[in-house]
Order: sequence, then C-alpha cells, then structure tokens
Amino acid sequence: MCDDRMRIILLGPPGAGKGTQAERLAARYNIPTISTGAMIRAEIRDGSELGKQTKKYIDEGQLVPDSIIMSIVESRLSKPDCAKGFILDGIPRTIPQAQKLDEMQIEPYTVLNIAVGDDEIVKRLGGRRVCATCGATYHETFNPPAKKGVCDACGETLSIRPDDAEETILKRLAVYHEQTEPLIAYYEKAGKLINILSEGGVEETAAAVQAALEVE
Ligand code: AP5
Ligand code: MG
Repeated sequence: MCDDRMRIILLGPPGAGKGTQAERLAARYNIPTISTGAMIRAEIRDGSELGKQTKKYIDEGQLVPDSIIMSIVESRLSKPDCAKGFILDGIPRTIPQAQKLDEMQIEPYTVLNIAVGDDEIVKRLGGRRVCATCGATYHETFNPPAKKGVCDACGETLSIRPDDAEETILKRLAVYHEQTEPLIAYYEKAGKLINILSEGGVEETAAAVQAALEVE
C-alpha cells in the first residue's frame, strides 16, 4: 500500500457522516483524521487566540476564512504521523482551499463524496449527540449510545453541538450549496471523485465506503 493511497478526502454536506466514517477509516488504516472543525472547536474550548478569532464564524454557520484554515492544515500535515496517509474530514471546503492543496502537492488518492439530501441532513444533525471529551459522535435514533446521554468510549456526558441549532443547520446547508458543492465538479474533472450515496444507516454507508476503496 503506497502513501498516496491513503490520502483520502471526505467531502459532503454538514451532517453527512464525514466524521462518523472518518473514525472508522482511521481505525481501519491506522492513519490520522484531520478535521479542521474539531481542531477549531478544541481551540475555542481552550480559549486560545485562534479560538477567539474563529468562534463567530462557527457560531453563525459561516466558513472560517481560507487563509486561517489552510495555515492550520499546512502545519498539521507536516507532522510525522501524516507520512503514511491521512483523512481530510471537511477540507477542502472551497475552491481556493482545493487549489492550495494542489499547490502544496497534496494529491488525494481519492475523494469520497458522501451524498445526502437536505431533509435527511436536518434529521441527522437534529439528533446528533457528541462527546466533547473524546470526540465520539452518536445519534439519538440512528446510532445511539448503550446508555442514553453517556459516551460508550469514555463515560462522559454527551452534549449537543452549539451549531446544531435548527437555524444554524439551515445556514450551514446554504453555505455548503454555495461554496462547497462546486468541489464535486472540481474533483470529478480531476478524475478523483467517488460518490457514496448515503441513504442507509451508518454501517451500510461504511460498507459502501469500503467497497469504493477496495475497487480503487
Ligand atoms: P465541521 O466540524 O467539519 O462540521 P460540518 O462539515 O458542518 O460537518 P459535521 O461535523 O456537522 O457533520 P459530519 O459530516 O461530520 O457528520 P457526523 O459524522 O457528525 O465544521 C464545523 C465548522 O467549522 C464549519 O461550519 C466552519 O465554520 C468551520 N470549518 C471547518 N472546516 C472548515 C474549512 N475547511 N473551511 C472553512 N471553515 C471550516 O454525522 C452527523 C449525525 O448523523 C451524527 O449524529 C451521526 O451519528 C449520524 N449519522 C452519520 N452517518 C449516518 C447514516 N449513514 N445514517 C444515519 N445517521 C448517520
Ligand atoms: Mg464532523
């Protein structure tokens, strides 16, 4: 298995299941997941300067400026644990971010576009529960923890992400359609795109992701 093989980009609307599938892929291939969303949420929790600069964008469901995101990504990708591959969860999210990755010669092995309709997104995000301590993600109905409200992995109390308020979900979806969806054509043109239709549950989607990677 060559290094390039494991450079995976997960594309898809908010709440498509990028983080859920990234968790499984990272465990299976023993490569890190790089999620700018998770990194920024950690900075906000820590009250860092970067957290202060970015909080308003996340709270409003807007994208964080490309220059801030790509400097986080560039520094994270230079770490030794990325040498054998990585999963980019929600990066790139604009055409300039994709162009910057190209400039950095970060050529993906594949771009998996997790396709989900807007109505289903509202259901997925409306029932999402997250563990702020270890990052595990659940859904009240579709992927519940063994004990309601408690993280299976670390036993902490689960919470609702602040940007999962309904009006913010709708804003994030609008931003997705305007700024991120054009990346589908960008990577299709580059011959890198595989569409994963995520109409079934978490395990069914994981099987489709796995099948797509095995075919490649
Ligand atoms: P980020 O944290 O990346 O959020 P997002 O893209 O909006 O996506 P989510 O994390 O909400 O959803 P997901 O696709 O990971 O789905 P999940 O697996 O949790 O970014 C947050 C913010 O940070 C952005 O709004 C922006 O401000 C900023 N940001 C981050 N990166 C940026 C960038 N590159 N550029 C600019 N700004 C950036 O699943 C969702 C729910 O559905 C869960 O409850 C799960 O259990 C359930 N579920 C998953 N799969 C299924 C399934 N197949 N069937 C049923 N339920 C399912
Ligand atoms: Mg996520």
